[in-house]
Amino acid sequence: MVLCSQSCLLLLAVVVLAFNISSLQAAWGNGKEIKSATFLSPMFVSGPGSVGNRFFYNIDFPRGHIALKSFNAEVIDEEGNPVPLHEIYLHHWLVVRYYQRGNAKITEANHKQKFRESDILWVWNAGICQDTDLRQYFGLGSETRRTVTHVPDPYGLEIGNPAEIPAGYQERWLLNVHSIDTRGVEDKQGCTECRCDLYNITVDEYGRALRPGYEGGISCCYDKTQCKLRQGVQGARRSLYMRYTVKWVVWDSSIIPVKIFILDATDNGKRIDGSTGKGLENGCQVEYDVQSCSATGQAVDGCIDVKRTSLTMPISGYLIYGVAHQHAGGLGSALYREDGRVLCTSLPIYGEGKEAANEAGYIVGMSTCYPEPGSVKIAGGEKLVVESNYSSHQKRTGVMGFFYILVAEQPPKHMPFLLAPVHIQENLKLSTDTWLIAAFLGLAITIAVAAHLWVSRKREDLYEPIMG
Ligand SMILES: *[C@@H]1O[C@H](CO)[C@@H](O)[C@H](O)[C@H]1NC(C)=O
Ligand SMILES: *[C@@H]1O[C@H](CO)[C@@H](O)[C@H](O)[C@H]1NC(C)=O
Ligand SMILES: *[C@@H]1O[C@H](CO)[C@@H](O)[C@H](O)[C@H]1NC(C)=O
Repeated sequence: MVLCSQSCLLLLAVVVLAFNISSLQAAWGNGKEIKSATFLSPMFVSGPGSVGNRFFYNIDFPRGHIALKSFNAEVIDEEGNPVPLHEIYLHHWLVVRYYQRGNAKITEANHKQKFRESDILWVWNAGICQDTDLRQYFGLGSETRRTVTHVPDPYGLEIGNPAEIPAGYQERWLLNVHSIDTRGVEDKQGCTECRCDLYNITVDEYGRALRPGYEGGISCCYDKTQCKLRQGVQGARRSLYMRYTVKWVVWDSSIIPVKIFILDATDNGKRIDGSTGKGLENGCQVEYDVQSCSATGQAVDGCIDVKRTSLTMPISGYLIYGVAHQHAGGLGSALYREDGRVLCTSLPIYGEGKEAANEAGYIVGMSTCYPEPGSVKIAGGEKLVVESNYSSHQKRTGVMGFFYILVAEQPPKHMPFLLAPVHIQENLKLSTDTWLIAAFLGLAITIAVAAHLWVSRKREDLYEPIMG
């Protein structure tokens, strides 16, 4: 009989552990089962230099009265392989909630025209930009693969509450995917920053002239635009999908609902009544440019472009989660309280290699904040400061500086002992799950070591006669 060596025992311990991490993660503190499902978006086709800005209505999504716990996504090819950002740059994806009337036909084909108003009722997040800007439930960009989106216990995003869905309507979800195929292009960075000259664009998607001085941004890389290719480049069109995994629990009264707020560093706070869109005068601009420090003669302050704005929180509540969204060149973002204390700092993780989730030069993740539940209370009417820093060693167009936060209006049932605001900034959630896993790891190693000792004791027994 072959005896299990030390490494074999360790392997066994790791395998057992691996199995049990998933089962531990599936268990909520008080026995609620976390469900998980992975879906594919409709297919989209992309060729070298081409842009896709697709709107998929009525995507596959968990149904029923549930609490969403996380949403993770990535772009894959037909074989299911993750596609790296230096091939297909994921500018952004958004998941938007709506109610659809009866059998109304709501498709991408009539996305640009107005829908019959009564056919679709948007269910926006809690704010705070004007009009329809940044009103999604979920949404990230290149940082998707390494950004934690988990909503910690006992919180959840309540959806599908039958009491809230108007009679005759059904809850549905829209997925918007904006991708830029940079294979074979002359200037990868320029294409990902949507520089108008590289796209040969002078009017926007609706045929309106670009505003004077607009050199780059989403108005120049709309669906079916084409970025400049290197001479003679030919490349195959490829079929792509967005693969997304949603985690949720069945709703019950022990779950504390959270509200989503998206704060924009470009928001000037103005809300012009009846005005829609991103006029320079109106609220959130969504994107902005970074001027090169050598051009502005400001190289003295380390070539950092700092964008700051002060915004008023419409409700009071506890901060549960925070994360920023930035584009390449981003140096980090922070959210401050009115008194200047930091609420959350979110820093970019840059890739260092070639493979998906580690692409050099791209932001492949953003760090997140999970304050101890109940420890950080934001007052209604409090003025928060959003700060977004970029390197200004070179000019950049169409960059972004958002801060997504989750806020719970109710306190947790068990308030933490320490009521002083605690600021925890981390990449991965350090919670009961982590402690359980750590405890299990300890146990597994103890068993492995004990078993190894037992095996070597046996071996000594066996060998003794020979050695002796
Ligand atoms: C993991 O732990 C559970 C108990 O929580 C146990 O029933 C299961 O058999 C374990 N899985 C493996 C692979 O050992
Ligand atoms: C750029 O667009 C104009 C029309 O707007 C067109 O006449 C011209 O040929 C285009 N240039 C290139 C290089 O595609
Ligand atoms: C942004 O830059 C300013 C000026 O250098 C600095 O004081 C601040 O701490 C930076 N913020 C973040 C989040 O890095």
